[in-house]
Amino acid sequence: MANLLVLGTQWGDEGKGKIVDLLTPAFEVVARYQGGHNAGHTVWVRGRKIVLHLIPSGILHPGTLCVVGNGLVIAPSAFFKETGDLEAQGVDAGPARVAVSRGAHLIMPWHPLAERISEDRRGEKKIGTTCRGIGPAYEDKAARLGIRAGDLTDLRILREKIADNIAAKEPVFRAFGLPGLDAEAVYREYGGWAEKLGPYLRDVSELLHERMKLGQSVLFEGAQGTLLDLDHGTYPYVTSSSSTAGGAATGLGVGPRAIHGVLGITKAYTTRVGGGPFPTELDDELGRTIASRGDEFGATTGRPRRCGWFDAVAVRYACRVNGIDRIALTKPDVLSGLGDIPVCVGYRYKGRTLKSFPPEPWILEEVVPEYRRLPGWPESLHGASDPGALPRTFVDYVRVLEDLVEAKVAIVSTGVERGQTVFVESELRGFVDLEKVRVAAAA
Ligand code: IMP
Repeated sequence: MANLLVLGTQWGDEGKGKIVDLLTPAFEVVARYQGGHNAGHTVWVRGRKIVLHLIPSGILHPGTLCVVGNGLVIAPSAFFKETGDLEAQGVDAGPARVAVSRGAHLIMPWHPLAERISEDRRGEKKIGTTCRGIGPAYEDKAARLGIRAGDLTDLRILREKIADNIAAKEPVFRAFGLPGLDAEAVYREYGGWAEKLGPYLRDVSELLHERMKLGQSVLFEGAQGTLLDLDHGTYPYVTSSSSTAGGAATGLGVGPRAIHGVLGITKAYTTRVGGGPFPTELDDELGRTIASRGDEFGATTGRPRRCGWFDAVAVRYACRVNGIDRIALTKPDVLSGLGDIPVCVGYRYKGRTLKSFPPEPWILEEVVPEYRRLPGWPESLHGASDPGALPRTFVDYVRVLEDLVEAKVAIVSTGVERGQTVFVESELRGFVDLEKVRVAAAA
């Protein structure tokens, strides 16, 4: 069976958690490749809400191995809070179920402090980060100063690296009037994590290679979204990792040919948390209606998400940079009964129409979206699972989106629960073992 990469095509919060959990029964391994506990992947099972931040969204299916790749940054306290919460709900999140790469970088106590300094300094131009220390941890990785999970296995190395880091950072912190960092206290804290994290640590590249040689299949799970990617997103209003398809290979130590298909998760409208350009944003009552109907509040920070119309220019760009084969369309039920539905098909900029997405914020801030109004559907889609029961106007709307983004819709999500899903069988063939998925969804 083929390996599948699942990632977001917008600014995150597309509903990746639900889709990864739903598809997991068709895979033996689920592997996250970037980000950290800035992500919030929400999964609902029989009325119970579970929000995952670092642990892959396959964890609720016993027997699935969950892998945390070298491309992630890990705050040990957040990791163990999450495994503890899962265990309290009867979910095994121990080392038999979760493998953590020795190459993943650690978020250290100075990272959230450094982030606050950096965000404050930017003033009005602040990025609006999740303030989890994610960006500064990746900065240290690039600066070759980072401390990796594998460093916890040699306490002499750990002590030395903590001292080196503090020597490098203290002058900056002092200049901002912050108290000094206590190397011994940090060493004690992280030395404590060393014992707990040790059993989880693996050579993830080798582990995945062995599993694939045994014929097992892997679901690669992206976090955030294409437009938040460090290279291909709306830089500098992005996260600090590679959330696009290429990140899966570097973030796990697998070759690009291990990825056999790419499924893009796309919300039927657009949302964004934090700062940065958003051409189709609805800063009005309608935007607030969509936010409230769609429960658009950050799963990690609780911040209200900005809402706007579907942007086909942006999603077509995401399909291109990720090589997306199929789309899972989420939350179209939120748009029921709203009348005609505008879809952005181009950007007006300096007297001409742009059909290709310009990721530069200074361009995006000036563009005026060109909309095509599509007939809406008054019928509720909520909870639908039978393709034959979908209203004609909605099916027509999907056909137009497919043409605009140049990818076919294979899944339509009509609610938070696993069973609230429409599968387009013809588009899923060769992608996932649909029978396994259906059985688990119905259980
Ligand atoms: P950071 O990832 O905390 O550095 O934040 C950088 C930007 O990415 C901010 O605009 C965040 O709101 C956004 N962001 C980070 N993680 C997520 C996510 O999981 N969903 C949506 N936005 C995110």
